[in-house]
Amino acid sequence: MRDNYHIMGIDDILLHDETIFRNLHAFDPDYIPENFRYRDSQMEALAVCIRPALMGGRPINAVVLGACATGKTTAIKKLFEMVEASSEKIVCSYINCQLHTTRFGIFSQIYHKIFGYYPPETGVPFSRIYHDIMHKLSTEDKALMVALDDVNHLFHNRNANRIFYDILRAYEAFDNLRTGIFAILSDIEFRYALDKNVNSVFIPQEIIFPPYSHNEIYEILKDRARIGFYDGVISDELIEEISELTFETGDLRYGINLLRVCGNLAEAEASPRMKKSHLEEAIKETACTNFKDTIRNLSKNERELLNIITDAGGENLTAGQVYEEFKRRTGLSYSSFNRIVEKLEFLRLIDTPFTGKGERGNARLIIPRFNKVDE
Ligand SMILES: Nc1ncnc2c1ncn2[C@@H]1O[C@H](COP(=O)(O)OP(=O)(O)O)[C@@H](O)[C@H]1O
Ligand SMILES: [Mg+2]
Repeated sequence: MRDNYHIMGIDDILLHDETIFRNLHAFDPDYIPENFRYRDSQMEALAVCIRPALMGGRPINAVVLGACATGKTTAIKKLFEMVEASSEKIVCSYINCQLHTTRFGIFSQIYHKIFGYYPPETGVPFSRIYHDIMHKLSTEDKALMVALDDVNHLFHNRNANRIFYDILRAYEAFDNLRTGIFAILSDIEFRYALDKNVNSVFIPQEIIFPPYSHNEIYEILKDRARIGFYDGVISDELIEEISELTFETGDLRYGINLLRVCGNLAEAEASPRMKKSHLEEAIKETACTNFKDTIRNLSKNERELLNIITDAGGENLTAGQVYEEFKRRTGLSYSSFNRIVEKLEFLRLIDTPFTGKGERGNARLIIPRFNKVDE
C-alpha cells in the first residue's frame, strides 16, 4: 500500500476528489444494514419474547446462540430500534459485555438509557443507582429488556450470576417490575458455561442463528457492495470470488473487510474499477487474521483434537478413531470429546459427515476444513 503512495505522489492522494466509495461507512464493523435478510425467523422469535412486555406482562428470557458474524448483534439492535419506535412501555438496553464487565459498568449503561446521562462514577453506592433505575421503571410502569451481548465476558470475573440476579429478581423489591434478558453467545461451549455461571434465575428460550449459506453470503456481500460502492465499481464475478473465500472462512466479517480493503487498493491506484489484482493483494493484506485468531483462542485440548486430524495427513478418520487417539493423548472422556467436536464444528474448523457405515449406519468422519495449521 505504502508503495502506491510513492507511485501516485502525496498530492494526488490528497487532492484527488473522485472516489469509488458511495458510502465509506458501509464497511464499518458496527454498520447496521437497512436490508437485513435471512433472519426473519430469528427476528420473529426475538419479537415474541418482547411481546408480553408490551401488553403488561413479563418479557421472555432468551439465549441467542450462533457463530461469529451470523447477525446476532445486528438483529438485537434492529429489534430494539423497532420496539422503541413503536412503544413507550418498555426500555431496551443493549450492552456490549466486552466493554462493560462489572455490575457498576452494566447498570451505568442501563441508567444512562433511562435517565439520559451517566451516574457519577464515585461517591454514589451501587444500591442507590440500582434503586433509582428500578424505582423509575416501577413508577412509570415500564418493563426492562437487557441484551447482554457476548455475555461470556462476564464469566471471567464471576459477575454473571449476580448481574442476572439483579436484573431478573428486581420484582422482589419493586412491585410488578417486569424485566428480561437476552444473553448473546458466539461460542457453543459457553452454553454450558452459562448454566454453570448463572443458576436457576435464568431459564431461557434458545434462539439459534445458523451460519449463512454460500448463496446467502453472496447476496449479502452484493447488497453491501451496492451500498458502499458506486455502480460498476465491482463486478459480480469479483463479489462471487469474495463470497467463496468468505464461505470458506465461515466469517462474513472477513468478506465485508475484503470489500473495503479492495476498495482502498483500487482507490489508491485511482482505478475506477476493482480488479482481480486488488483482491489478490487484499487477501495478502488481511491474511485470514480471523481464522488465525480462532485457532489461537482454542484450549489445549481443542488444539490437540485438531492436531490429531491434521496429523492424519489427509487420510479421513472416523469419530471413533479420532476419539481413541484423543483419549490416549489427553485421557479425557467421550463426552468431553463430543463437546469439543461440537465446538470445532460450530467454529467451522471441521466437518463431521455421516459415512452411512458403522453400527447403525451412523458412523461419522471428522475432517478438517483447512490445510495444516501453520502458526
Ligand atoms: N443478514 C445480513 N444481512 C446483511 N448484513 C449482515 C447480515 N448478517 C450479518 N451481517 C453483517 O455481518 C457483520 C456481522 O454481523 P453481526 O450482527 O455483528 O454478527 P454477530 O453479532 O452474530 O457476530 C455486520 O457487518 C453485519 O452488518
Ligand atoms: Mg455480535
